[in-house]
Amino acid sequence: MSTYYDQVQEAVRAIAATDRPTVGVVLGSGLSAFVEQIDEPRVIPYRDIPNFPVSKVQVEGHKGDLVLGKIGDARIVVMSGRVHYYEGHAMSAVTFPIRMLAGLGIKTLLVTNAAGAVNPDFAPGDFMVINDQLNLVADNPLRGMNEDRFGVRFPDFTEAYSKDARAKLREACESAGATVREGVYAFLPGPCYETPAEVRMLRTLGADAVGMSTVPEVIVARHMGLTVAGLSIITNSAAGISKTTLSHDEVKEVAGRVQKPLRMALARAVQSLAR
Ligand code: HPA
Repeated sequence: MSTYYDQVQEAVRAIAATDRPTVGVVLGSGLSAFVEQIDEPRVIPYRDIPNFPVSKVQVEGHKGDLVLGKIGDARIVVMSGRVHYYEGHAMSAVTFPIRMLAGLGIKTLLVTNAAGAVNPDFAPGDFMVINDQLNLVADNPLRGMNEDRFGVRFPDFTEAYSKDARAKLREACESAGATVREGVYAFLPGPCYETPAEVRMLRTLGADAVGMSTVPEVIVARHMGLTVAGLSIITNSAAGISKTTLSHDEVKEVAGRVQKPLRMALARAVQSLAR
């Protein structure tokens, strides 16, 4: 019987990357314009990768590609689209791609997401460099038998988001002209947006932004010893902070507006993270 580890290796072999990428990038909802920047792109649809989790949206052919290529001298591998916990996937499926990226040889993972601002000082369009995270989902991708070939049973999480990588990401975002914030990202399962009471709770807990992704990916990345940088694009004030109600259309609209500075920031960030 093939183990999860074997399934990851099978996916890695199927991609048969001739040059090892050093940086992996996960592009969040509506944030995929960066793929157009990639030189010598090799695009592999997720559905062509054995054991890779595919969401319903991707089955319908909208998005879900792995793109290998270069930005300047940096060899990168980019995930355009991800599956979410709220879709009903197990944590092992949600984090399978990150195990595979590590198998391809990356040393650094740059994760991005669209998030709601819990910090009242943050505004839609701001870029938040993630400096720490709150896992508020009563599940963990490392639960169960530990696979020692990935990492240790009880990994340290004192510096989940590397200080050095945070500084590089901040510099890249500033040079792209973005308003840069720094803060704590809280992960809730979704798919409903939060209630105002939940947002007040999140603020009390020390969160600056809230979203429905990223945290499981960062947990497995750190389990494997990858250096992690994380960027939240603030697409809205979280529920109850502004007077308006929330919609996915609003999130997509704001994400669309920042594509230009975002792709500039990511291009610069991957090059400095590759060094
Ligand atoms: N809450 C949760 N997830 C989100 C939000 C939000 O306000 N905005 C974008 N993703």
